[in-house]
Parts: sequence; C-alpha cells; structure tokens
Amino acid sequence: MKLQEICAQVPVIPVLVIKHAIIARPLAEALVEGGLHVLEVTLRTPAALEVISAMSEVPGSIVGAGTVLTPADVRAVKDAGARFAVSPGATDSLLAAAQEANLPLLPGAATVSEVMKLMALGYDMLKFFPAEAAGASRCSSPSMALPDVRFCPTGGISADTFGHYLALPNVLCVGGSWITPTTNCKPMTGRGSGTSPARPSKPPHSSDRATIGATRNDGKQNSLIRPCARPPAIVLPVLQAGL
Ligand code: 3PG
Repeated sequence: MKLQEICAQVPVIPVLVIKHAIIARPLAEALVEGGLHVLEVTLRTPAALEVISAMSEVPGSIVGAGTVLTPADVRAVKDAGARFAVSPGATDSLLAAAQEANLPLLPGAATVSEVMKLMALGYDMLKFFPAEAAGASRCSSPSMALPDVRFCPTGGISADTFGHYLALPNVLCVGGSWITPTTNCKPMTGRGSGTSPARPSKPPHSSDRATIGATRNDGKQNSLIRPCARPPAIVLPVLQAGL
C-alpha cells in the first residue's frame, strides 16, 4: 500500500515509544478499537522490534516503524513485520535500502529543497519534521504547497495544535507521541491489574464517539477526517490527550 493511502486512513498516527513488549498487543487493540489503526513504533527502545511483531498481529492494524535511520534498520523492521518505515530525514543509503526491501518509506523533510529532492525521486508523501520547530505556517506556505506532495507533520504536536495542521489541504494526517505518553505505556501494577493493561469490560457506547478533525482553510470539511470512537475507558489513562 502506498504511503498516501495509509496516511489518508487516519487523522493521527500515534508515535509509540514502548519499553515493555508485553503491553504491545493490548495497546494496539485499544488504539485500533479507538479508530487509530495506523501505528508508528519507534526504534528507540530495545523492545521495538518485538513490539512491531506483536502489534502487527492485531487485526485491522497497519504497523510501521519509526526512527528508521540505517539500511540495517530497514531490513530489521521489514523482517519484524513493519508495513512502512518513517525516518526523521533521508539519506541515499536509507532510500536505497527501503526501495530494495520494497518497504514504503515516509522520509522527513522540512525545507522546500528537501521536499523537491524527494519529489524528484518519486516520493509524494513526506513527514514534515520537526513540525512545531519549523512552524505550521511553513508547511502551509505557498512554496511548500507543491503539487501532488502531501505531508504528515510530526514533532512537538499536541492536543492543542494538531487541528491546525489537519486544517491544511496538503496535510493528510499528523503524527505524535502525545496520544500515548511514554510514562503511561507500561504494564499496569496494583490492585485489579495483571501484568498487562486490562481489556475493557464492555465496548464503548456509540454515544462516546468523537470526531477528530478540522475544517480546511477553504471552508470545506476535510474529507479525510474520520469519525473516531473514543478508546475504551480502561485505556483512557494511556491515551490521555486530544481524543
Ligand atoms: C518522531 O519520533 O517521529 C517524533 O519525534 C515524535 O515527535 P513528538 O514526540 O514530539 O510527538
């Protein structure tokens, strides 16, 4: 599946930094159930590859790997089951490795020249990074509104700011770790918990549905925004912002 197709499926891609593989499956199940089925597991923990494998087994999930920096990373995440890879930037060797592995890559870019170079290589879906440092206004500036290229802004985005990006016509989705704060992504301990987060005792009510989205600057509703069911209550402490 092409990256534009993947990114168009959700308004937000949770950027996951998971230290404990044991929570991978229940966390992915909760996110999928909550409407966020495209997941980015960063290679920033020793458990990352195991997490990718476990999350990939969850029905409905599309699991990618983040912080993919080297050809060896590309091969490792592909073997682990990643459906796509995300990198904060782009190097020749990384691009070649992704192509060789036939793994869709979302490379990072923050300037017009970086965007143009990647476009010349056939990339039409890019990670705008670091989004908050570069500024939403740059992402939306006419010079970045290059035809056919779309962005997934990531980096410093929060529950307060993600809507600004989703309102931009050249933005398909945003990425961010605010959805799943690292401090909460750990096995629950204490009364009533096992070694992994409990499953919800009942499915969310239809009245719990929320809409993540925004009206585009041209006044039209962004057709890519999907209604999103609230995550099950038991998982809300993990998904504590924005939804
Ligand atoms: C990434 O890993 O892609 C970004 O650094 C995530 O940025 P955030 O943690 O600020 O959301």
